[in-house]
Amino acid sequence: MEAVFYVNGALVPREEAKVSLFDHGLLYGDGVFEGMRMIDRRIFRLEDHMRRLASGLAAVGLTLPGGVEAAREAALTAARAYRGRDAYLRLVVTRGEGPLGVDPFSCETPTLFCIADGIALFPAEKRARGLDLITASVRKPGPDQLDPRVKSLNYMNSVLAKREARLRGADEAIVLNQAGRVAEASVANVFVVREGALLTPPANDGALEGITRKTVLELAKELGIPAYERSLTRVDLLSAEECFLTGTGARLVSARSLDGARIGGEERPIAAAILRAFEDAAPGLGVPVD
Ligand SMILES: Cc1ncc(COP(=O)(O)O)c(C=O)c1O
Repeated sequence: MEAVFYVNGALVPREEAKVSLFDHGLLYGDGVFEGMRMIDRRIFRLEDHMRRLASGLAAVGLTLPGGVEAAREAALTAARAYRGRDAYLRLVVTRGEGPLGVDPFSCETPTLFCIADGIALFPAEKRARGLDLITASVRKPGPDQLDPRVKSLNYMNSVLAKREARLRGADEAIVLNQAGRVAEASVANVFVVREGALLTPPANDGALEGITRKTVLELAKELGIPAYERSLTRVDLLSAEECFLTGTGARLVSARSLDGARIGGEERPIAAAILRAFEDAAPGLGVPVD
């Protein structure tokens, strides 16, 4: 399926889908973004994504002309133009073009673009088998450094965590916060099952407030599975009955090992039940694009 590009107010062909070398998103990582899913021609939890985007824009003081409405329009227009029923949408707002120098006030007009394309983070056999995780040596910056709740264009921490995982022959990395508690994976949230209850680290341990995470917590409650936000350490993962990651890109994917040690058994009944409930609920939680 052909990718679709919306750049600063209009759909453009791939050759014209470009930003300036002077864009501060590229030069300084000055911007925020959302990754969304179109599922059966509906954008999954679009309003939640727009809320998170608005809060990120406000946090970095980036004023988008037309506000978050312009961003919603970009996502809907790109999704509508995409030929397939399912797509990954990457919506990006940067500080825009400006002279060299980090000063955000030197940029006059933000850049807004949205790409609609396919994405497959993990092949089917890995999803079925479960991912091998490592504990990354890089730590999550604290909220007074680079607040993990802002989905900014500064993903070097995640890139280095993922790189370390790949270099060590694993699939994904668990990133700890400054206190040694589990924050999240490189670009996904972490869940464990312990004594039948579903646990995930709270946002103030360095987890992004993931929209898939929120949906999993809601679905668990509907299924009668106790679900809580709880600080976790590596020990909680190593001794878990089940462990899985969630994210717009990853969806829900189970883990089978951490740093070479096995997590849980072959059966993953809670992950399977949540995944089934997720697939049933997803279409009803989307905003139609047509
Ligand atoms: C660092 C990080 N954590 C968690 C997530 C999962 O969030 P969501 O479920 O909203 O995609 C993402 C999203 O891609 C992410 O980049």
